[in-house]
Amino acid sequence: MVNIADRYGDVQEYYFSQKLREVAQLNAAGKNIINLGIGSPDLPPPQQAVEALCAAAKHDHAHGYQGYKGTSALRQAFSDWYATNYAVALDPETEVLPLMGSKEGITYISNAYLNAGDEVLVPNPGYPAYSAATKAAGGVVRHYDLREAMGWLPDLQELQQQDLSKVKLMWVNYPHMPTGAKASKAALSQLVDFSERHDILLCHDNPYSFILNDKPESILSVKGISPHVLELNSLSKSHNMAGWRVGMLAGHRQHIANVLIAKSNVDSGMFLGIQQAAIEALKQPQAWFDKLNAQYAERRKLVWQLMDVLDCRYSTAQVGLFVWGRAPEGVRVEQLVEELLYEAGVFITPGFIFGTNGQRYIRVSLCADTGQLLTALERIKAFKNTKIKTT
Ligand SMILES: Cc1ncc(COP(=O)(O)O)c(C=O)c1O
Repeated sequence: MVNIADRYGDVQEYYFSQKLREVAQLNAAGKNIINLGIGSPDLPPPQQAVEALCAAAKHDHAHGYQGYKGTSALRQAFSDWYATNYAVALDPETEVLPLMGSKEGITYISNAYLNAGDEVLVPNPGYPAYSAATKAAGGVVRHYDLREAMGWLPDLQELQQQDLSKVKLMWVNYPHMPTGAKASKAALSQLVDFSERHDILLCHDNPYSFILNDKPESILSVKGISPHVLELNSLSKSHNMAGWRVGMLAGHRQHIANVLIAKSNVDSGMFLGIQQAAIEALKQPQAWFDKLNAQYAERRKLVWQLMDVLDCRYSTAQVGLFVWGRAPEGVRVEQLVEELLYEAGVFITPGFIFGTNGQRYIRVSLCADTGQLLTALERIKAFKNTKIKTT
């Protein structure tokens, strides 16, 4: 048997890739599992986006390879979106790179910048793709702690006392997944200062800024375009287009050119219909976000109740697509998640998959309608009553 490359080391198959197979098997066996695990929006994308996709698909000229940097109209639409929503000016020719989702951007950035042994600061807890992409590119993961007591913000004083000479990249993500923490403009500014002082490329992953968040922020609004800052963004959550795979990278022209070297040698452009749909989606007015967030706010009330039934502690100030709750002391989180799946028929995410600092927590997604959430609530109440009776 030919072995997998050493650089994959301890990188495992993505948790959801494996776990959703298990959920599918349970469903195939008639279990009707309610999936509150993954952040895949169930609400429809903007109607105009769907129409643009269908219209493009009917054109003979739409089916060839597309340019590696997307169409100029799509780059312009991203630039307009940044100007309107974040007050950030981006040159659509040189400072915007459309991507097939922001997740691929994490890999391309890692491939473009990391030499063997280069170190990367990765949040704990945080999105697992940062570590996986680092290792796959030959880099070395250096986790930095995020703690509830510090609002899940990095302790820059603590980091500064360490030897950072080998650190090349740092991943940050606010609104933060999985904790739902926000970073103020002042906190973002301190991060930019830190990256400049230590000559680190700060990569801000920003897919949740429009979800249940009054004021979307871009890290590029702190000091404008800087050689030390990049930002990833995405239509997956903001426009319910997760399966369409549309995202973007914004930043200094040299970085965009570098990442394009990594990207253009892998994919061969995004289907024209999807690009035209994305342009329509990006034109949505504030009313789109207001309607979306009203629905999520309703759902979140039920998820708070679900957390209460499980005696989990959570902050109601969280933003984004999930509720993150701390399990009561003494409860074994991994076991609880398995019991909820197999005994209550509800799938939620254990916090340990986001790193050791997530071990005492669970994450519940808002990507299920109120009917499903009410059923999940009833099932979990019944599960809890059975447990109380048997203990
Ligand atoms: C923090 C974070 N970054 C990036 C992504 C990937 O999003 P996309 O669909 O744009 O690839 C996710 C998806 O769940 C995420 O939670």
